[in-house]
Amino acid sequence: MPSLLANDSKEKIIVYSNGRKVKRQLKDNEVDKGERGIYNTKNKLNDLTGKEWTFFINSVHMTDFTKNEEEFRLWKYLQESIIETKYTTNGDDSLGHNLRKMHPSPKPPQLMKDLIAFFTKSGGWILDPFMGVGGTLLGASLLENRNAVGIDLEKKYIEIYNKVCKQENLKQQLAICEDSRNILTIEQIKNKIFDLILTDPPYADMLSKRRTGGDRKDKGAFTKDERDLGNVPYEQFFIEFRQIIEKSVSRLKNKGYLVIFCKDMQPTKKHHNMLHADIVNEICKIPNAHFKGYKIWYDKTINLYPYGYPFSYVSNQLHQFILIFCKE
Ligand SMILES: C[S@@+](CC[C@H](N)C(=O)[O-])C[C@H]1O[C@@H](n2cnc3c(N)ncnc32)[C@H](O)[C@@H]1O
Repeated sequence: MPSLLANDSKEKIIVYSNGRKVKRQLKDNEVDKGERGIYNTKNKLNDLTGKEWTFFINSVHMTDFTKNEEEFRLWKYLQESIIETKYTTNGDDSLGHNLRKMHPSPKPPQLMKDLIAFFTKSGGWILDPFMGVGGTLLGASLLENRNAVGIDLEKKYIEIYNKVCKQENLKQQLAICEDSRNILTIEQIKNKIFDLILTDPPYADMLSKRRTGGDRKDKGAFTKDERDLGNVPYEQFFIEFRQIIEKSVSRLKNKGYLVIFCKDMQPTKKHHNMLHADIVNEICKIPNAHFKGYKIWYDKTINLYPYGYPFSYVSNQLHQFILIFCKE
């Protein structure tokens, strides 16, 4: 949210965190607080403006004590640090994002490359049983001498991946259109042993549900296929997901790593919805799969919104968990 440019009594130009400027009239319950932003007099929780509220509800609390604190909290600084990203979505470094954006949640190939570089050596084989448009496979091709195999139910995602390889002049890895429940019987990879499983699965029917915090864009499910784990109810999802991962792990070398992306959902009164904790519990039921810890990916391309203002706390989830298991 906002950074102000004009200070007319009732009219203000608001600059959002993505740089969009909107000129609008202040409402009766809104008070112009200058550089601090706009205060809503219905705020019963604190004395913060929408801009200050938005700064706080970022799930990653940023501190930089080398800077003057007031200066740090000014929107301009926040805006710069949020918008700036290592992984741009256009230009030469976007790695085919123009095509990959047809998928609801493509992962940045550069991020996957960093993970593959840590968890494999030259010549290594990587498996992604939920490849989408190929973030993992592209990441493997950005490194010297890595081989990857991806599986996805949806033919159009595999076609997009193949087009991206051609457009970006990257080595085309093996992309298979299949239900990953059948992973052990897929002819092309029968008896293949992998050095790393790196995957970003769908999480039950969360994409098709309207979300409040973190990502308001309701892009719909990945596919309409009932075999899609993204169309399976929450409880059933865990059992089916574990079964697929257990089959995949049977093809992982001893001391090989299993790395899973996961983003929590907003909590409800019924459940905390810390998906990452539920996933760790479930995967630890697989014999030989040991949880080793996690990394947090702070995606600076996600916009901040003043969720909940001025009534209650709602988290703006800008981070995802990268859960790390080892077969031992
Ligand atoms: C979160 S997306 C993966 C995105 C990917 N990381 C990328 O960079 O594009 C999960 C994918 O799993 C696929 N999927 C869901 N259920 C599946 C199943 N049973 N077998 C194979 N793929 C499945 C969906 O079609 C979707 O593309």
